[in-house]
Amino acid sequence: MRFISSSVFALGLVAPALAYPRPEVVKRGSPNPTRAAAVKAAFQTSWNAYRQFAFPHDDLHPVSNGFDDERNGWGSSAIDGLDTAILMGASDIVNTILQRVPQINFTTTAVANQGISVFETNIRYIGGLLSSYDLLKGPFSSLVTNQTLVNNLLSQAQTLANGLKVAFNTTSGVPDPTVYFNPTYRRSGASSNNIAEIGTLVLEWTRLSDLTGNPLYAQLAQKGESYLLNPTGSPEAWPGLVGTFVSTSSGAFQDSNGSWSALSDSFYEYLIKMYLYDPVAFANYKDRWVLAADSTIAHLASHPTTRKDLTFLSAYSGQSTSPNSGHLASFAGGNFILGGILLGQQKYIDFGIQLTNSYYATYNQTASGIGPEGFAWVDSVTGAGGSPPSSQSSFYSKAGFWVSAGYYILRPETLESLYYAYRVTGDSKYQDWAWAAFSAITKVCRAGSAYSSINDVTQANGGGASDDMESFWFAEALKYAYLIFAEESDVQLNPNGGNKFVFNTEAHPFSIRK
Ligand SMILES: *[C@@H]1O[C@H](CO)[C@@H](O)[C@H](O)[C@H]1NC(C)=O
Ligand SMILES: *[C@@H]1O[C@H](CO)[C@@H](O)[C@H](O)[C@H]1NC(C)=O
Ligand SMILES: *[C@@H]1O[C@H](CO)[C@@H](O)[C@H](O)[C@H]1NC(C)=O
Ligand SMILES: *[C@@H]1O[C@H](CO)[C@@H](O)[C@H](O)[C@H]1NC(C)=O
Ligand SMILES: *[C@@H]1O[C@H](CO)[C@@H](O)[C@H](O)[C@H]1NC(C)=O
Repeated sequence: MRFISSSVFALGLVAPALAYPRPEVVKRGSPNPTRAAAVKAAFQTSWNAYRQFAFPHDDLHPVSNGFDDERNGWGSSAIDGLDTAILMGASDIVNTILQRVPQINFTTTAVANQGISVFETNIRYIGGLLSSYDLLKGPFSSLVTNQTLVNNLLSQAQTLANGLKVAFNTTSGVPDPTVYFNPTYRRSGASSNNIAEIGTLVLEWTRLSDLTGNPLYAQLAQKGESYLLNPTGSPEAWPGLVGTFVSTSSGAFQDSNGSWSALSDSFYEYLIKMYLYDPVAFANYKDRWVLAADSTIAHLASHPTTRKDLTFLSAYSGQSTSPNSGHLASFAGGNFILGGILLGQQKYIDFGIQLTNSYYATYNQTASGIGPEGFAWVDSVTGAGGSPPSSQSSFYSKAGFWVSAGYYILRPETLESLYYAYRVTGDSKYQDWAWAAFSAITKVCRAGSAYSSINDVTQANGGGASDDMESFWFAEALKYAYLIFAEESDVQLNPNGGNKFVFNTEAHPFSIRK
């Protein structure tokens, strides 16, 4: 086993969880079967509606009971939701999806000249197929006896990757963000791509190579990633904090802007997750994560003028920061906690908890109890950020942020960080906050046959449903909500080391390299 944590821990070189629990404040949590069952019931309700009105299409529109095929019509909700159903032991659902998998034609799109997002296709479909394969070959093997059905998961992932790999046919090897399968395999010809879409392939494609024995997938993804690990072109804003757009012809950076949010986020996330996957082979990814993490703590951590107790992450343009963030960046707390656990560095755990608490505050301050897509504040040190719209000035005084985009589309990132905070501290407060978030989402977003995206979290009733249930509701939001209350298992994060799984950015757990 190449994962070294057990021997390192035995030597006493690192002891990340030792500062916890802090007995005076912590009431230790434990598995909560009642709450776990409630999350599973929400999954079942969502599945039943999807099954009746949308399957085998991509997303259910729960209010109109229609559907869309915005992920190319290969059944994204089913594939994305499969491993959550496995973890929940929902064997009827698992069986329905497994029967469907071999019938999906991953070599073409039903619609001619329909663009295929390499990033979305990778994290949802390849991620969902590979993790379900790992779980059914591993700790959940008793759920399915027919190995042909299980093996189809891997062969379909490989078929899909064989089509997607045309994306890498650029001068540099930096992948094109968009490809087409119908009528011919080709890439869009885009001259640039962003670091999230380039840097969020390497875990899935390395796993695919390890499972198939074909090194090509790992080589392609790691070649694209190499330009992000060894940046040229526009300078890094600070060590490790790179720009956003990269030339597909030269691999050079084109700007020095960035954040822990859209277009950048999961590039940073995967640096430390590759180290969890194999700490020897991907030690240099860890080194880049450490640089980015330290620069983030030094330069992007920002406290609002009205709530200096909160810490949000600013965006940057070169060395100029702007105090705005959003729901997507809410994963950062969990990623810092993971890094702190793996590296035995309490400072990253503490910073991750600070972020988790602060981003959760965007939930518990709104009328709906749900955090907004986008928000902003005034930085208490630099004064950057302007001033809140007058309609939100009293809200800003109390909450420490104002809402710049009020919608919510069933995103998971806040629940994800609450999961990491709970696992590292054992503090039942995080279970209670996750329960509050889950309860608000399932109350306010309940619409039509299932759960829907909503327009405005600043209104107690959510401001109306916008009639979409994205596949990440199945894959991520309900999975993290479930795991925080579920029994111990091999997939649960262990703050003392010896972890057997690494979650991709869509919450699909892969077995780590042995
Ligand atoms: C998948 O689609 C391609 C292109 O239309 C077709 O040639 C092939 O036969 C299809 N495969 C299956 C199994 O239906
Ligand atoms: C296993 O599943 C495959 C694919 O659906 C099917 O062809 C085969 O008959 C099944 N085997 C058994 C033993 O049920
Ligand atoms: C790669 O792109 C070149 C043109 O730049 C083209 O001639 C070639 O066929 C492509 N290869 C593949 C495998 O798509
Ligand atoms: C970088 O940020 C600056 C300032 O916000 C903006 O003017 C510029 O267009 C951004 N560049 C890119 C490539 O987004
Ligand atoms: C809201 O979250 C903050 C964490 O930043 C916590 O201190 C506070 O108790 C929470 N309030 C409620 C009502 O849950």
